[in-house]
Amino acid sequence: MQELSYICTLIKRCFMSNYMEETRIITVQRLREMALRGEKIAMITAYDYSMAKLVDAAGIDIILVGDSAANVMAGYTTTLPITLNEMIYHASSVVRGVKRALVLVDLPFGSYQGNSKEALNSAIRIMKESSAHAVKLEGGKQILDSVTRILSAGIPVCGHLGLTPQSINKFGTYVVRATEADEAKILLEDAHALEDAGCFAIVLEKIPAALAKQVADELTIPVIGIGAGRHTDGQVLVLHDMLGINEEFSPRFLRRYLSLGEEIRNAVWRYVDDVKTKDFPSDAEQY
Ligand code: KIV
Repeated sequence: MQELSYICTLIKRCFMSNYMEETRIITVQRLREMALRGEKIAMITAYDYSMAKLVDAAGIDIILVGDSAANVMAGYTTTLPITLNEMIYHASSVVRGVKRALVLVDLPFGSYQGNSKEALNSAIRIMKESSAHAVKLEGGKQILDSVTRILSAGIPVCGHLGLTPQSINKFGTYVVRATEADEAKILLEDAHALEDAGCFAIVLEKIPAALAKQVADELTIPVIGIGAGRHTDGQVLVLHDMLGINEEFSPRFLRRYLSLGEEIRNAVWRYVDDVKTKDFPSDAEQY
């Protein structure tokens, strides 16, 4: 009898430690451990409380409050118009829905380029007013002063290279970046500079898979890809794209997991029909 109870306790302990390991909150240190042991990092965007709660419960490692909110939440054609106040609003909504994931927030266009003091103030506002865990900035050596100054305040920074949508007016197009040797060389140097400065991770967007592999092989910090092939330490997708809500956007790198746009339209069409035909509300649905 005593033996049985001992075995039960052992099983319970084993189960509990696995459970705690699974639900342990994600930190920048834990992300690094994951990358070092070859466990892929799953990152997704979210911009509001309800979606953040769902993706967090599904076991996502990093929630990116991306400035893609400008596109998918506000309907702008670029990410440039979103403001720092708007990013803080989205970030604080997300943080309230999250128990486990690391919440990473984009510094919006105009809040960090060319002025490291302003960059630090912007990052501090995000951390203080939203309680997020880290910030992301687009660019390499040209924003290194801002990166270093933000890091000096103890704020974890993630870099973002390759297709950097805040520079769309410089690029003129959203095509794959760094396909030529000179741009690939600069990207590689930028990745090293960001790692050396102390960034905890780097996002690589829309670059050849072979180049992304080289960056991931050469760096020790986690490298997260979007449209950058399978050799990076993790992947990120925009939630509205992978759920099929943003139906107009269908680049080759995107895998659609749902056709939610169609489902939502159908559900609302049925609701409209029920109201018009006086089917809704029924006797059971009124007081
Ligand atoms: O804003 C965003 O959603 C991003 C991802 C595309 C990486 O930066």
